[in-house]
Amino acid sequence: MEGRAMIKVLSVASECAPLVKTGGLADVAGALPGALAPLDVEMRTLLPGYPAVIKALTGAQCVAEISGLFGGAGRLLSGKAAGLSLFVLDAPHLFDRGAGIYLNDDGVDWPDNPERFAALSRVAADIAGGTLGQWRPDLVHCHDWQAGLVSYYLKRDGISVPSVLTIHNIAFQGLVPMARAKALGIAKADQAREGVEYWGQISALKAGLVWADRLTTVSPTYARELMTPEFGMGLDGVLQTRKADLSGILNGIDLEVWSPGVDTHIHQYKTPRGKAANKVALRDEFGLPEAEGPLCVVVSRLTEQKGLDLLLDALPALLDRGGQLALLGSGDPALEKAFAGYDHPHVAARIGYDEALSHRMMAGGDAILVPSRFEPCGLTQLYGLQYGTLPVVALTGGLADTVIPATPATMAKEVATGLQFHPVTADALSNALMQLCDLFAAPKLWSKMQRNAMAQPVGWAPSVAAYAALYDDLMKAAE
Ligand code: ADP
Ligand code: GLC
Repeated sequence: MEGRAMIKVLSVASECAPLVKTGGLADVAGALPGALAPLDVEMRTLLPGYPAVIKALTGAQCVAEISGLFGGAGRLLSGKAAGLSLFVLDAPHLFDRGAGIYLNDDGVDWPDNPERFAALSRVAADIAGGTLGQWRPDLVHCHDWQAGLVSYYLKRDGISVPSVLTIHNIAFQGLVPMARAKALGIAKADQAREGVEYWGQISALKAGLVWADRLTTVSPTYARELMTPEFGMGLDGVLQTRKADLSGILNGIDLEVWSPGVDTHIHQYKTPRGKAANKVALRDEFGLPEAEGPLCVVVSRLTEQKGLDLLLDALPALLDRGGQLALLGSGDPALEKAFAGYDHPHVAARIGYDEALSHRMMAGGDAILVPSRFEPCGLTQLYGLQYGTLPVVALTGGLADTVIPATPATMAKEVATGLQFHPVTADALSNALMQLCDLFAAPKLWSKMQRNAMAQPVGWAPSVAAYAALYDDLMKAAE
């Protein structure tokens, strides 16, 4: 890598930690620029001008006035926030709203989401084309469906800047009725099956799958799963045709934020023993009594993907053996109700989103449960490893790639870092929870696993090297 010129990359994302976050995409978009900087990649991030982003922006300058953004005008701002170099699309009619960044007060998608993120995508292509200001990227790195149309607009407008699309979750496809294709600037010929068409609608994600020069997803296993009907959600065929351009690059975590030795939200520690004070504090905070078994934690969106309905069915296996559960999450009202109303002294739930509490849970828990039906990468099991909070995960996607399950062989070699279960059913999860309780009752084995977990390399270093190599490749191909 040494000796090559700096590569300028425009990253396009709909959320970015610590400014605005609903899930792991934000952590990744927020960490990549800093992690790539030592590899001579200058990454600037284009974000929507949500109120929280505009408020955090310092040294903001207006780079361009932009008209024709689906019923209003906007400005492209350039500035800094939270150590990130940002372009921000300040278009109040699209982004200055209360409630959520994707959902209204009733928890329903904003009806103009396709237009909101098409506007963001069009502006990204225009930055790359040099029509908005001086700074031009060598390539564009797009994240998820919200930036799916970038690659299409680049091709449509003949802008010869290569693009990479990272799929963080194929379940979100950015679907729009075909009747809106023209307004989104999609040419008739490109509305076809070989183009953006997805079962009679338009998919913004598919636009990226078709026209981005390279595709990545966030773990090697999910890259393979995506090409199967079981996981590809109808896009497996398109992905198979792009197989040569698709790779899986595992997410890392930001060790300056998520590491028990430096975490400002917790009683800091460097060895598993240091967890004790955090556990006492966490039990207090959740009103949980002392218990024989492991204190299990969950920090998650409460959706079908995350498999927490299975946990409801499997919980008796944990509770019967003296285990406990502390859960933090929000989402599906039925799941919120089921966990909040679970009537047992050893189960406590907080419904909502609380970043600081999520850190305290990583530090205070004995184990973290991630029973996902599918999981492109998953970050909470990585936090769990780093904090010596043993992950119990479903054998799928990034969960399969990051946890070394306790089996007779891995225990004999003393390399296990957690538990994996398969198939993703309540029965298999119950068995894993019983195994967890057995291991917890064997302190030597348990603390060995904790030390193994804490020694796992979960930072960004190997993954950003892979991204930098991918960018290099693309630059060479474009020469
Ligand atoms: P996904 O992006 O599918 O939700 P990930 O595991 O990749 O799953 O990332 C989830 C991120 O969101 C993690 O940083 C996790 O700690 C955080 N998170 C999820 N739910 C909550 C919550 N209720 N409160 C605080 N943080 C949460
Ligand atoms: C998505 C996935 C999750 C992944 C995250 C960041 O939200 O559901 O598995 O870790 O993106 O890439």
